[in-house]
Amino acid sequence: MAILKIARMGHPVLRKPAEPVENPTSPEVRALVKDMIATMIDANGAGLAAPQIHESKRVVIFQAPASRMTPGVDEDEAYDHQAELTVLINPEIEVLGPETEEGWEGCLSVPGMRGLVPRYTHIRYRGVGLDGEPIERVARGFHARVVQHECDHLDGILYPQRMADLSKLIFETEAVHWVAPARGEDEER
Ligand code: NI
Repeated sequence: MAILKIARMGHPVLRKPAEPVENPTSPEVRALVKDMIATMIDANGAGLAAPQIHESKRVVIFQAPASRMTPGVDEDEAYDHQAELTVLINPEIEVLGPETEEGWEGCLSVPGMRGLVPRYTHIRYRGVGLDGEPIERVARGFHARVVQHECDHLDGILYPQRMADLSKLIFETEAVHWVAPARGEDEER
């Protein structure tokens, strides 16, 4: 297990579509995921995609803790807003409705910045876990946002490319002073 260097915006590995994983239960994939988890925790992130540690593979990890849940969420929808630390291999996203909402995101590959990004509020995602078993979940709110952000990394897309208004791309040090929600809603902090 190792804490690895994180690729930053401008590195070609972040622009390249990642390769599907042929054998999700292989020792190589398990070792990759261990390094990803160690690196994400060290960087205090909520998610990480394999290309961010220079491995062009379709693997993401993320978590959506209850502390990041949007206040006032319906009780029957609350489950969809949360996810424990999840390893998702070869993920696919299905959009479940046209609604989008804007939220502040950060990215470990775009250090020091925050941007206001529209994302679908209601999705279903599918993939495979480290045990080779299929994973299928419905996600809303921050949970849906973090999954869309991480899966974008697998297609060579960074969050500034999803922004509607680049005047909302700001330095984290400014966000702290001027944009109150920016601290609570970012993707990777
Ligand atoms: Ni990111």
